Amino acid sequence: MMPFFKSIKKNKQDQAIAAADRITRLQASNLPKHIAIITDGNGRWAKKRGLPRTAGHAAGMKKVREIIRAADELGIQVLTYYSFSTENWKRPQDEVDYLMKLPIEFLKTDLNELIKRNVKVQMLGEKSKTPSETQKALEEFEEKTKHNSGLILNFAINYGSRSEMISAMKQMINDVQQGHIKPDDVTEDLMDSYLFTKDIPDPDLVIRTSGEIRISNFLLWQIAYSELCFTDTLWPDFDAEAFFQAIEDFQHRTRRYGAVK
Ligand code: FPP
Repeated sequence: MMPFFKSIKKNKQDQAIAAADRITRLQASNLPKHIAIITDGNGRWAKKRGLPRTAGHAAGMKKVREIIRAADELGIQVLTYYSFSTENWKRPQDEVDYLMKLPIEFLKTDLNELIKRNVKVQMLGEKSKTPSETQKALEEFEEKTKHNSGLILNFAINYGSRSEMISAMKQMINDVQQGHIKPDDVTEDLMDSYLFTKDIPDPDLVIRTSGEIRISNFLLWQIAYSELCFTDTLWPDFDAEAFFQAIEDFQHRTRRYGAVK
């Protein structure tokens, strides 16, 4: 009988070898702690195949799972997906409904694996404005994984960075008025503490797929010094190999934070 490895189609076999090779080339001491991903291109991927946009989101979900596994196995500390922006409500209702069902499905299919992997799932954004079933699923994810100490997996849902900052400012002003803080106490660290991301490090690497070169209201405060990686690959075509490639590129960057090396 043909050994398993040889039975994999030639190009799949090459990809597996390339991915293994890439992992061994990554420097374990210089991995990004936090990787944030703008998963773009699901709609175009579906259109190219004459499929409804929702088919693109279904294909995209497989990649969400693949990259969670890759990040976990690599020892990445935080992985954040931009899943639904405050602007995405403007999409056709059937697409919005489909996107809002994804967390419910994902809970059924993936919660056990995430628990086994010790993954802690968290939400960034105003989840209270999502449909009640979606909100219930999101809360169940958070509740059932809150004591886990492995990979922190954030889903930004109904998230917009400007509205996050405005809400932080309003809370700060309120705290000044109540006498809890003084204007002089306002520092970058204090601002951090008012954001959804308060307990996690800023992203070291932001990846956006599909060839769009913009940030689209994603973590504007938090990505001040992030390395940005834009790839033409549509999200449903992105895979672990492409993920490792992005990390390898990151490891070749020199991060200066405004200083001179
Ligand atoms: C962007 O492609 C993709 C989305 C708006 C969906 C992102 C969904 C996830 C990351 C999964 C979320 C999962 C859970 C469990 C919360 P697009 O539709 O903008 O593509 P296009 O630009 O080609 O039209």
